[in-house]
Amino acid sequence: MKRIGIITSGGDCGGLNAVIKGAARMAASMDIEVVVIPNGYAGLYNLTEMESLVALTPERLVSIDVTRAGSEAGHSRVKIKKIENPDKYDRIKKGLEKFGIDGLVISGGDDTGSVILDLAGQGIKCVHVPKTMDMDLQSYSVGGDSAINRVAEFMSDLRTTGMSHNRVLVLEVFGRYAGHTAFRGGIGADADCILLPEIPVDFEVVYGHMKRTYISRVKASDVRAGTYAIVAAEGMKDAKGEVIADESAGKDAFGHIKLAGAGKYVRKRLEAFMKDDPDIEAFMKDTGAYVPGVYVKPEIREVTPGHLVRSGRSFAYDVNFGMEAGAAGVALLKEGLTGVTVVRAAGSEIFYQATAEVIKQRHVDLSEVALFERLGICFGRKPEEYKPELKAWEGKIERHM
Ligand code: F6P
Repeated sequence: MKRIGIITSGGDCGGLNAVIKGAARMAASMDIEVVVIPNGYAGLYNLTEMESLVALTPERLVSIDVTRAGSEAGHSRVKIKKIENPDKYDRIKKGLEKFGIDGLVISGGDDTGSVILDLAGQGIKCVHVPKTMDMDLQSYSVGGDSAINRVAEFMSDLRTTGMSHNRVLVLEVFGRYAGHTAFRGGIGADADCILLPEIPVDFEVVYGHMKRTYISRVKASDVRAGTYAIVAAEGMKDAKGEVIADESAGKDAFGHIKLAGAGKYVRKRLEAFMKDDPDIEAFMKDTGAYVPGVYVKPEIREVTPGHLVRSGRSFAYDVNFGMEAGAAGVALLKEGLTGVTVVRAAGSEIFYQATAEVIKQRHVDLSEVALFERLGICFGRKPEEYKPELKAWEGKIERHM
C-alpha cells in the first residue's frame, strides 16, 4: 500500500480534522502517502476529471486545525448507487487508478457506511471511521461529544435572556430520528424538559411540569425572575407517534426529509394550554407582572441553532477519538481489511467490526431516561418507574477517556 485516499462524507461535525490528521500521520509513519479526495463521494465519482489531489504532507498538515469542526476534506451527500451512469463503479476505479490510490479511509455515518458496503462489494478497499453528530451508530462516532457540548452551551447561555424576560425557552436541535444529542446536551445544561424522538410527547404532562416548575421558580425568586428550559430534538414525535416536520423543507440527496418545525410546534402547543388556564392570569397578578391588554401571560420562544450545533469547535474528546480512529483506520487498511469500521482504538489495541453491523441505527436507551425522570426532568411522558439494580462489576474496567 503506497497511497491512501481520505474521504469525509454526510453532515460535517466536530473531530473530522483530527481523523484526517491522525490518518495522515499514521500513514506517514508507515511510508504511505495520504491524499484528500475532496467533497465526499462527489469527489470520488469525479476523480477521473481531476488534475491533481492534495497530499497531506507534514507541511500541509500544519494548516489543518484539529480544534475546529468541519472537514478540510469537504463533504457532500451523494449516494453512489443512485447515480444513473451504469459505468459508475468503473469510473470510480479508473479515478483511483489514475492517482495510484490503493485504499480509502472514509469517515461518515450510516448513509456513508451503506456506500462503503457498496464500494467494498465492488472490490474497492475501504475502512470506515464512524462519524455523526447524531450518535446513532452502534459505536461512538466522532462529532457526538462536540455536538452535545454545543447543545449544552446554547441551552445554558439562553438562560440569561430567559431569566431576564421570564420566558420559557425551547431549543430545537439536530439529531435526526435519534435523541442522543438532545438528551445528553439537555442533561449537560440541566434542562427542565427534554423531548426525544424515542418518546411520543404527551403535552399535558409537559405543560403540567412546566407550569409547576416555572411558577414556583418565579415565586421563589426575590426579584421575581424565572425561566424554564426545554430541549426538543428535531425528530420528536407527537402523541400519535408522528414526526413533527414541516414538509416544505424538502428532502436531502439521500431522500431523507429535512426535519424542521419541532420548536415551533412545542411553543404552539404550550401556548394553547396556557391560553385556557385561569391560573396563569392569577400568577401574573400575584407576581406583579400583569399589565392588562399588554402583558397577560409569560412568553414562550423557540430558538433553532440549526447547523451551529455541529460548527465551530471540536471538543477535546472528539479530537482524541478522531486522532485515534483515523490512525486505526490506516492500520486496518494496511492489513488488507475492507468493509469494516474502527469501533475503538486504545493504544495498541484496535477493535473493528463489520460496517454492516455498526451502521444499524441505535436509539436512546429508555432505562437511562427513567433515571433522569426520577431526578425531576420531564421527558414528555408520565415518569416511568426507576428501579436501581445493583451489580458488582466483573471484568476489565473500560477506559473512560
Ligand atoms: O445527520 C447529521 C445532521 O446534522 C442531522 O442531525 C440533520 O438533520 C442533518 O444532518 C442536516 O443535514 P444538512 O446539513 O444536509 O442540512
